[in-house]
Amino acid sequence: MSLKFKNAKRIEGLDSNVCIFYLRIEFTKLAADPSVVNLGQGLPDIPPPAYVKEELSKVAAMDSLNQYTRGFGHPSLVKALSGLYEKFYQNQIDPDKEILVTVGAYGSLFNAIQGLIDEGDEVIVIVPFYDCYEPMVRMAGGTPVFISLRSKPVDGKKWSSSDWTLDPEELASKFNSKTKAIILNSPHNPFGKVYTKEELQVIADLCIKYDTLCISDEVYEWLVYSGREHLKIATLPGMWERTITVGSAGKTFNVTGWKLGWSIGPNHLIKHLQTVQQNSIYACATPLQEALAQAFWIEIKRMGEPECYFNSLPKELEVKRDRMVHLLESVGLKPIVPEGGYFIIADVSSLDADLSDMKNSDEPYDYKFVKWMTKNKKLSAIPVSAFCNKETKLQFEKFVRFCFIKKDSTLDAAEEIIKAWSRQTS
Ligand SMILES: Cc1ncc(COP(=O)(O)O)c(C=O)c1O
Repeated sequence: MSLKFKNAKRIEGLDSNVCIFYLRIEFTKLAADPSVVNLGQGLPDIPPPAYVKEELSKVAAMDSLNQYTRGFGHPSLVKALSGLYEKFYQNQIDPDKEILVTVGAYGSLFNAIQGLIDEGDEVIVIVPFYDCYEPMVRMAGGTPVFISLRSKPVDGKKWSSSDWTLDPEELASKFNSKTKAIILNSPHNPFGKVYTKEELQVIADLCIKYDTLCISDEVYEWLVYSGREHLKIATLPGMWERTITVGSAGKTFNVTGWKLGWSIGPNHLIKHLQTVQQNSIYACATPLQEALAQAFWIEIKRMGEPECYFNSLPKELEVKRDRMVHLLESVGLKPIVPEGGYFIIADVSSLDADLSDMKNSDEPYDYKFVKWMTKNKKLSAIPVSAFCNKETKLQFEKFVRFCFIKKDSTLDAAEEIIKAWSRQTS
C-alpha cells in the first residue's frame, strides 16, 4: 500500500483499540437488536418538551434562518446564553467574546483541547472519565495524567456517588510545572458525582498554585437531585480567568440529536477555541441555534418556577433514579446512588453470568459481562472500564452503567428481565 495512504501521526493508536470503539460502535451495535432493552448508551427515549420541537418547526419555516449564521454562535443564541449564565457567574458575559457555540459539548471539548494543549503538556484526567478526553488530549500531543476517584468504606450504608472522592494529596502529586490543564466533569458521567464546594476548592487551589487551566465539563448541570447543588468551578475566586466551562443543549433540553454545545470563559482563552472552530467546522446549524435560543428565553423567564424545565426534568428523573436504585437493590446488587446525571452504576460481580465462551478473551470482566447480558438477557448496559485508561480498567471492571432517562415502559421491561434473572439464580 502506498505510504501516502498512511494515517497522520496525531491519530496513531486512537482507532479501534480505545474504549470509544466499544462504547460507540460495538455496544451500540449489540444493543441495536430490537428485542434488547437498551439501558446502555446515554440515549433518552423520553421526548423533549413539546415547545422545543415547535420552536424548531417555526424556525424551519423562516427562509433567512435556513442559511449560514455567525461562525462563533448565532447572535440570538449567544445573547440567550449570556442572559442565562450571568445569573450564575454574577458577572456580565460578553456574548461575542466569551461564548462559543459548538457542535455539541464534544465540539467544545475538542476546540478547547486543540486550542490550548500542546506537545509536551500534561493534562490531568480523573478516572473514570468521559471517553473522548484521553484520545483528544493525545491527538493534541498532550500527555494525560490519570488519577482515580476512590470510594470510602460504606459499611452497609447506601453507597452514594459522594462516597467516591479524590485524595487531595494524590491530586497534588499530579500537578507540576508541565501541567497545562485539568479536565473536571461535574455532575459526573458515569458516577453521577456532584463535586462539593470544598472538593472544587481543593482543585481550584492547585490550579492557581500551578497556574493551570481547568476545562470544566458541566453538561449535566441541571440534572442534580435533592440535597445537592451544582457549583461552577469558574465562580470560585481566581478561577474565571483560567476556566473553560462546557455545556450541552442535548443534555439541557433532552435533544441529544441536535448536537449543539457551548464553551464559556474569558476572551483570552475563548479566542483560541474560536480559532480552532474557524479553521474546522466554521459554523453550527442556524435553525437549531435559533430554536435553542427561543427555548432558553422561555426557561429564563420562568427560572425558579416548578414548570421550568431545569427544575421539572430533574424531578422527573429523580423518580426514575429511585426506581432503578430499588430495582437493583431488590436483586441483591449494591448500586452507587447518583447525586446527578442520568446514569447509575452497580457492582454486578454477584450476578450469575456464564462467561465460559469468552474464557480466552483478555477483555475486562465488565466488557464480557455486558456482551453476555445483552445477548442472553436482552438487556444492555455499558461497562465502566470503558471510561478508564488501560492501567485502571481492572479497578472498575466489576461495575456497569445503566442509563435511566427512559420511558416507564422501558424501565418496566428492564425490571421484568432483572427480576426474572434473579428468580432463576435464587
Ligand atoms: C460528560 C459528557 N461530556 C460531553 C458529552 C457530549 O455531549 P454532546 O452530545 O453535547 O456532544 C457527553 C455526552 O454523553 C457527556 O456525558
